Amino acid sequence: MDITVIGAGYVGTTTAVALAKNGNRVILVDNNKEKIEKLNRSCLPFFEEGIEEALLLLKSKGDLSFTTELSKSIEVCDLLFITVGTPSQDDGKVDLTFVKEVSRTIGKGMNRYKTIVVKSTVPVGTGDVITEIIQEELNKRKVGISFDIVSNPEFLREGKALYDALNPERVVVGIGSEKAKKVMEELYSKYHSVLLFTTVKNAEMIKYASNAYLAMKISYMNELARLSEKVGTNILEVAKGMGMDSRIGPQFLQAGIGYGGSCFPKDIKALTVLGHEQDSPLQILKAVAEVNESQIDWFIDKLINKLGSLTHKRIAVLGLTFKPQTDDIREASSIKVIQKLLQNDSIVTAYDPKGTEYMKKVFSEVLYTSEPIEAVRKADAILVLTEWKEVVELDWKTVKGLVNQPYIMDGRNALNPVYIRSLGFHYSGVGIPAHDAKGC
Ligand code: UDX
Repeated sequence: MDITVIGAGYVGTTTAVALAKNGNRVILVDNNKEKIEKLNRSCLPFFEEGIEEALLLLKSKGDLSFTTELSKSIEVCDLLFITVGTPSQDDGKVDLTFVKEVSRTIGKGMNRYKTIVVKSTVPVGTGDVITEIIQEELNKRKVGISFDIVSNPEFLREGKALYDALNPERVVVGIGSEKAKKVMEELYSKYHSVLLFTTVKNAEMIKYASNAYLAMKISYMNELARLSEKVGTNILEVAKGMGMDSRIGPQFLQAGIGYGGSCFPKDIKALTVLGHEQDSPLQILKAVAEVNESQIDWFIDKLINKLGSLTHKRIAVLGLTFKPQTDDIREASSIKVIQKLLQNDSIVTAYDPKGTEYMKKVFSEVLYTSEPIEAVRKADAILVLTEWKEVVELDWKTVKGLVNQPYIMDGRNALNPVYIRSLGFHYSGVGIPAHDAKGC
């Protein structure tokens, strides 16, 4: 099929690559000239395993191209994917400016029937808004071209985005006509995935409901972790036992310093706002967000308890990105942690394999190092905030000889407490008792 993907961000680029890899001819459009120039040189504006290599190959075969010319790209395709950004406004509402702008351009430029697939995460009812805008433009032009709006939310995990785009566990497709169903069936015929056909509104809701549910699991485990430390239970063992129940499942039960990223915080806000607007508040989500926020305070309080005070203490932060295998620091827990450390007049050193350049723009006063071993030198405490392999597999014996005080706060429960304690460190995880015999 001839497909145009509008919006060369994280989702759009990954989607375009996956569609082209599956035998379609894809044009990726963005109004940002610099971004398109970069893509034309096969440079990715973000880091994501496997995409740059795939992009280079697909470009050379002519299956994938990049342009800023939206109107032309609309004309030549059968299918249009909308993958533009839908940022949060200050009140938590979703800003649909880009989606609306693109919809208007589609209405202005549509020359024959098109299936318009919405991949951007949009509030329930946006499919109707897009339909109205396009229809309005067609009416203005006095043309009777038909079109279908499909909601096809993405569930890509950063760090595994290309794999997820090519091997989705499930594909949710919100449709309003048999014609659109056929198009989507054909599009996904090469995938070995289960397709769920439903209404556009249901599909829009499934996306928010799924992300909020995953975040809820994390916040629940984080609260349980805090209680675990009080009553002497080990959250790792608790999670293991819980996860063995297939009704619960083992995933997303890892306690830590909280979730971050471009999706969970934003989507929870958007769903919460929708609940309020409809006078049907989602009280659970309010608690989910609050626990995530207070998890940082809890973590910093523990650190203060250990060191007495943070003033002029040298704190090494290992891991800045919101999770490993990405350079994304959006809503990363490390930002809030560093903020609090600086407020307490600590001297902060930091190491991250991928996220340092972005973090430099947020905190210029932090001493960034290119090697983890440099960050820990003379440290009064080490905070592990992202479970990067480069951090977990550090030579901790050498580290012990470099620090000023042997405190390790493992915000991801990524290290082996027994080993770390055996080296003489005071190890503190999240929900792991101070003297747990097994250590897990
Ligand atoms: C998420 C969803 O998983 C994906 O389906 C959706 O489309 C986009 O949002 P992503 O943002 O890439 O993907 O991150 P994810 O792997 O889900 O992790 C989110 C955050 O939760 C990270 O900060 C991670 O460290 C944290 N997390 C995850 C935990 O604290 N505990 C867990 O058990 C799992």
